[in-house]
Amino acid sequence: MEGDLTIEDRHLPVLLEEAVAVLQPRSGGRYLDATVGLGGHAEAILIGSAPAGRLYGIDRDAETLALAGSRLGRFGSRVELHQADFAALDTIAAANGWGPFDGMVFDLGFSSFQLDNASRGFSFMKDGPLDMRMDRQGDDKSAAELLARISERELARLLQDYGEERWARRIAARIVQERQSRPLTSTAQLARVVASAVPRRAWPRRIHVATRTFQAVRIAVNNELARLRRGLQDAVKWLTTGGRICIISFHSLEDRIVKETLRGWARSDPPRVHLLTKRPVVPTEREMKANPRARSAKLRAAERC
Ligand SMILES: C[S@@+](CC[C@H](N)C(=O)[O-])C[C@H]1O[C@@H](n2cnc3c(N)ncnc32)[C@H](O)[C@@H]1O
Repeated sequence: MEGDLTIEDRHLPVLLEEAVAVLQPRSGGRYLDATVGLGGHAEAILIGSAPAGRLYGIDRDAETLALAGSRLGRFGSRVELHQADFAALDTIAAANGWGPFDGMVFDLGFSSFQLDNASRGFSFMKDGPLDMRMDRQGDDKSAAELLARISERELARLLQDYGEERWARRIAARIVQERQSRPLTSTAQLARVVASAVPRRAWPRRIHVATRTFQAVRIAVNNELARLRRGLQDAVKWLTTGGRICIISFHSLEDRIVKETLRGWARSDPPRVHLLTKRPVVPTEREMKANPRARSAKLRAAERC
């Protein structure tokens, strides 16, 4: 039963061994986990950097961060957590006297805790309010608000750009038709509307027909791509010489930003980093079997020169 699950069961960290192998945590080192989530990567870094390594963790999601706080409590003053957007890394690190860091990890996207919690509105598998905000106290508008106001044309473009959805125009038209008779308020309602817009014979075999729409709306609600560009742009200057950054992405839009940012740093004159991964590291068959969420993961890493 879900209620009996421990935090560790609720979110299996993806590419954990591979990330630790890149970061090589050591005692006395300072590490930033920019997406602490339920603390899986953070915990491994703290164990690897015992007895005196320090971990600075941020996450936009207050609920998630509270759970990470209880999981990581046993490490005492070696851990500092802060609810924040990694796009504001400069401000947070400067204001709290953090850094420079010997290693950084960005494990992008959302956690299975967020996905499995129906009240957060990320899932088409469980009915809940159409929310999808990672930070519910911040300025972002919920998915319901976004879908109530956006024009049909903009919505089609959003589904195309962020979801790579080939039925974008039909889905956008159906959503607009639906909201003219009743507002879109629940995840099940959105999933139904998407399903009714895509001809049955064209439903994807391996994923739910609403997967791409939910991904697109989530990315838009949380402004994920702009935040990622901004967070990475600032990250490199917070690395010590020899410090390493490791980024795990889950879809091609994120991976493209990661790849281009790392290449840009490596090609600058003088180079700011050298690349540790010419090709992205992907999970083993074993990990993919144990954790289907890992299937699309890609890890890229670089070392500050
Ligand atoms: C895949 S989970 C991280 C899981 C974590 N590595 C673990 O092992 O438990 C991604 C986390 O990043 C957070 N997140 C997403 N975008 C963020 C941003 N711009 N700033 C800070 N946290 C963000 C989400 O709230 C989520 O908790």
